[in-house]
Amino acid sequence: MQIIHSIAELRHALKNQSSIGFVPTMGNLHAGHIHLVELAKQHAKCTVVSIFVNPLQFGVNEDLASYPRTLEADCEKLNAIGADIVFAPDVAEMYADFDGVSLNQSMTISPPLIATELCGVSRPGHFAGVATVVLKLFNIVMPQVAVFGIKDFQQLFIIKDLVKQFNLPIEIIAGETMREASGLAMSSRNGYFSDEQKTKAAQLQQCLKHIVHDIQQGNDDFNALTQAAMQTLNNDGWQVDYITVRSALTLAPATIGDTQLVVLAAARLGSTRLIDNIDFLR
Ligand code: PAF
Repeated sequence: MQIIHSIAELRHALKNQSSIGFVPTMGNLHAGHIHLVELAKQHAKCTVVSIFVNPLQFGVNEDLASYPRTLEADCEKLNAIGADIVFAPDVAEMYADFDGVSLNQSMTISPPLIATELCGVSRPGHFAGVATVVLKLFNIVMPQVAVFGIKDFQQLFIIKDLVKQFNLPIEIIAGETMREASGLAMSSRNGYFSDEQKTKAAQLQQCLKHIVHDIQQGNDDFNALTQAAMQTLNNDGWQVDYITVRSALTLAPATIGDTQLVVLAAARLGSTRLIDNIDFLR
C-alpha cells in the first residue's frame, strides 16, 4: 500500500489506472469506514482512500482542532484490508490559498437548497465545505466509483446531486451504517464519549426505530411522532437539533403518499453531536 501526500505524486501513481474506487474520509477509521473500503474494492481494481480533515466544512465553534487524527493506525487498518493507496494531503496541499493561518478558498460549491435544512440549520456552510472538498478530491483522484456512508444521509444526497449537476462520470455507491451491538451508529465522534454516555447514546437509534415501527403500523401523524421522540430525548438529557420524517427520494418533508421514507435525527449528548437515520418502506 502506498501512502501519498502530494497531488502530483498521486496523479503519477494513478496515471495508468482505469478502474479506481475511491473512499473519501477524515480518518480515525472504524468498522463503518472499513465496510466502505471493502465495497470500493468490490467495484474497482485500485482502491484509493483519502484521509483529510477538511477545515472548510467545520464551523468556527466546531471540533476542527480536536478532531481525532490517527494517520498511522488508519494506514495499518487500510493496509490489512488491502487498500492500494492512501492519499493524506495537508491543508496547504489541498487549498492553495492557505497562508499557514487562515483559509481563503475563494471559489466554493454552492450546494442545493436542501443544504440549508436538517444539519445545515445548525451547521451553516457545512455542506458547501463538503461539496467543495469532494469535488476537489474527485478532480484529483478521478475515480470511476466513489463510496459514501448512508449514515450521512443528507451528505450522500448532496454528493449525488453534485455528481449529477456537474456531469461527473462517477458512480456513487452507498454503504450501510455499521452499528455497535447497542445499535449506536459507528462514528469517529463516538470517541468523545465516556462509557456511560456511549451506553446512553444508543437511545437515539431506539427512538428512530420506534418511529419507524409506528409508521409501519399505520400511524401517519409524522409530526406527532417526531415531536414525542424529541420530547423524550430532551427530557432525558439530550439536546435535540431535529428528528424528522422525509421522503428518502427527495428529502422533502414526508407526505401521506410517500412510500420510501427516511427518519433522520441530530442531537447532542454532552458536547458531542450525533446524527443517525433509518430509511424504510411503508
Ligand atoms: O463524511 C466525511 O467523512 C466527510 O464529510 C468527507 C466526505 C470525507 C468530506 O470531507
